[in-house]
Amino acid sequence: MRFSEHIDNIKPSETFKFFALIKEKQKNGIEVTPLVAGELDEETPVHIADAAIKAIQSGKTKYTINSGILELRESICKKLKAENDLSFKPENVLISNGGKHALFNCLYSLCGHNDEVLIFAPYYSSYPDMIKLTGATPIIVNTIKTDYIPTAESIKSAITNKTKAIIINSPCNPTGIVYDKSTLEMIADIVHENSLWLLSDEIYEKILFDDAQHFSPVSISPELYNKTIILNSVSKTYAMTGWRIGYAVGPAELIAKAALVQSQTTSNASSISQYASLAAINSDDSFIDSVIPKLLTKRDRAMKILSRMDNIEYIKPAGAFYLFLKVSSYYKKDKITNSTALAMYLLNNHNVGIVPGSAFGADDYIRISFAASLENVEKGCQQIVDGLNQLSS
Ligand SMILES: Cc1ncc(COP(=O)(O)O)c(C=O)c1O
Repeated sequence: MRFSEHIDNIKPSETFKFFALIKEKQKNGIEVTPLVAGELDEETPVHIADAAIKAIQSGKTKYTINSGILELRESICKKLKAENDLSFKPENVLISNGGKHALFNCLYSLCGHNDEVLIFAPYYSSYPDMIKLTGATPIIVNTIKTDYIPTAESIKSAITNKTKAIIINSPCNPTGIVYDKSTLEMIADIVHENSLWLLSDEIYEKILFDDAQHFSPVSISPELYNKTIILNSVSKTYAMTGWRIGYAVGPAELIAKAALVQSQTTSNASSISQYASLAAINSDDSFIDSVIPKLLTKRDRAMKILSRMDNIEYIKPAGAFYLFLKVSSYYKKDKITNSTALAMYLLNNHNVGIVPGSAFGADDYIRISFAASLENVEKGCQQIVDGLNQLSS
């Protein structure tokens, strides 16, 4: 069979691959501890689910305006004003089928062959392939040696006359790093000086620990208003990964192009999910505020269990809900030479599901999600410790 050149270099999502392998094992009666999925171990709040039921019962079940219902776009503008001191109008907002889809619509509108897009490794695993789907080339700037914070020198040396955009993600999946104001200012200066676009993936903006603070880059550097696209979704903040609603906020001209891509591919996001998201965006933060202490307990419990091993290195996450563990000192034992082999070993021999670091551009690492239940976080971390201990014995 012959397929198009668009799909030739595209890799499947490693997260979904391990997700499927776990499901397969569970189907065969094997008990596996899943620390793979990037989603809260919580139900969608009742008032949000009720809003969806009400939408169905009141006949809000037809196509909506392609860029999303006006009320939801207005509410997103109000949220951005109240929380980030940013002024946008509904024409600056596109509602899509999840944050991923919002990002793709924007990237597709901006990039094509001959363009390059800078991303910082370790990166969210979909970025490189999404960039490739547009025909552009992902350029990877490694941040591992500088504790996951890009330096001005490393960014500037990766910029060429083909560079179109930079994608940032703070709080970051997989590292949990949260950029401070000075890092964002430095990136803003480079974006401005080189007339680039900045795509700011802020999907974990409300999942912060200790005294970490989230800043949207435009609120720090207002000169970025015409060059930045803010990407967000209801998936993580409101336990709504299955509802598939995300949004992009940026210059009206660009948003209109991204809406055009959407109109010719998926028309609009689900009407029912949009009404549920309206209830979500209009709520206060009490749901996520009640989840943060639980996540903190899980993070700290996971770190306690993992501290039994001397050779696991990581930076304590300040946001998102992942631990990104350097485990390469366990490689080269029992034919385990990379993160994928280690992930397969942990899954097959110790019944714990994690995601190999290769998916994030960092093969010395593995990622665990501590958004799972406390019981699974504790059990899974112990299984990882047992598995690694067995390798070193
Ligand atoms: C950094 C980042 N961006 C985007 C997404 C996609 O989110 P959504 O479920 O809203 O498409 C995820 C999901 O894991 C993510 O971690």
